[in-house]
Amino acid sequence: MRIFRSISEMQDWSSVEHLAGNSIGFVPTMGALHHGHAELFSQSVKENTRTVVSIFVNSLQFNNASDLEAYPRQLEQDQVIAEQKDVDVIFVPTNDEMYPNGFASSISVGPVAQHMEGLHRPGHFDGVATVVVKLLNAVMPDAAYFGRKDFQQLAVIRSVVRDLNIKCNVRGVPTVRNGMGLALSSRNSRLSTNRLEQASIIYALLNDMANQARSSETSTLTLQNQFNDRMKSVSGTKVEYVEVVDSDSLLPATTAQKGTTICVAVWFDDVRLIDNISI
Ligand code: PAF
Repeated sequence: MRIFRSISEMQDWSSVEHLAGNSIGFVPTMGALHHGHAELFSQSVKENTRTVVSIFVNSLQFNNASDLEAYPRQLEQDQVIAEQKDVDVIFVPTNDEMYPNGFASSISVGPVAQHMEGLHRPGHFDGVATVVVKLLNAVMPDAAYFGRKDFQQLAVIRSVVRDLNIKCNVRGVPTVRNGMGLALSSRNSRLSTNRLEQASIIYALLNDMANQARSSETSTLTLQNQFNDRMKSVSGTKVEYVEVVDSDSLLPATTAQKGTTICVAVWFDDVRLIDNISI
């Protein structure tokens, strides 16, 4: 497995691979790799001749300095996981490499980024879009893989890639869950064992709401009230949002029914967890 730290090294390698007729799959990450990432790597390895993983904690997408500070970092462990999954290259640019002095451009994402995560984390998706486009320009992949847990992020990236004519197939990969149903996330490593168990309530409630909506169209307001009430039983939690959106446009929907997705964000103490379920 090769490790590149500069954009030019990365681009040179990709150009040679393309000239040799090899396809490149790419998984952008912020590190602290877990089985969810491993699933993305496997998908890329299955569908491409080469797989590149980037590890870069992108300061532009954090709207809170303490969240950026607390974000888990474990490069050595990450390298082992990537190697075990047959990743060919890890791209680990420094902050200065990505955002040198004088860096001043940014991508402004449209309406798809304006509610849910976009509303509660102002500037977050502009930061995600900017770094993803920079990474795509560095890696020049044929396909890039993103987890469906970050449902709105996937929609944002699809729209940016489409709008900016970036030649890359954006692939969404189903959420990987632990035995209790909790969606895997790098942030889970900040939860105690007890909190991890309690957090499995999120997916249990999402399933309850989805089953209800599958048997009969249910108003968003009813689901919001139900979710908020049930979460009150877990101390130290705070529901940030419960939204029902059209699964393609991500526009808010007033009822949950086929073709919509229920998305939630919940704080467990100072750890913010998101999840979603499609009807
Ligand atoms: O999902 C993530 O880990 C990040 O938002 C991404 C796509 C790597 C951009 O920094």
